Amino acid sequence: MVEAGKLVKRIQEMREDGYLSDAILRACVKEIRSSDTKCDWVGVYLLNPEENILWLHDYVGPSTEHARIPVGQGVCGTAVAEKANQNVSDVSKIENYLACNPRVKSEMVVLIRAGDEVFGQLDLDSNTLNAFTKDDQENMELVAEKLAEVFMAERR
Ligand code: SME
Repeated sequence: MVEAGKLVKRIQEMREDGYLSDAILRACVKEIRSSDTKCDWVGVYLLNPEENILWLHDYVGPSTEHARIPVGQGVCGTAVAEKANQNVSDVSKIENYLACNPRVKSEMVVLIRAGDEVFGQLDLDSNTLNAFTKDDQENMELVAEKLAEVFMAERR
């Protein structure tokens, strides 16, 4: 799995070079996906707070039917509704799970947030059961924290 420090540094460098969040998110998704073969699908959803819907922004991997996910639905929507990151070792155990494709077995969702305000999330799918460790989650949390900083800076 990608080393958070390296990716956070790259995000900072991109900011200093004048890149906006759009390009930074795309770079992150690509980097995470190529860092580890267990990351079979990696995407970023951004929250549309007026409609309370997550919109798929960028992804690498097979196409999905779930380009928009209402808050509260699936692993992604649950993360926002509960304001809590999700590390699901076996997606078949989740009642309201939304399948990206039938091969996916485990999933991790890490919110991009500043305090209580949610900007979006990093979504990682694996075709292997129990793919994501606590270390992986902590790594993604550091990356998500940096991305939240990018969103905050763009707002000014
Ligand atoms: N599995 C997610 C939907 C997103 S797709 O996997 C790309 C969910 O249950 O919310």
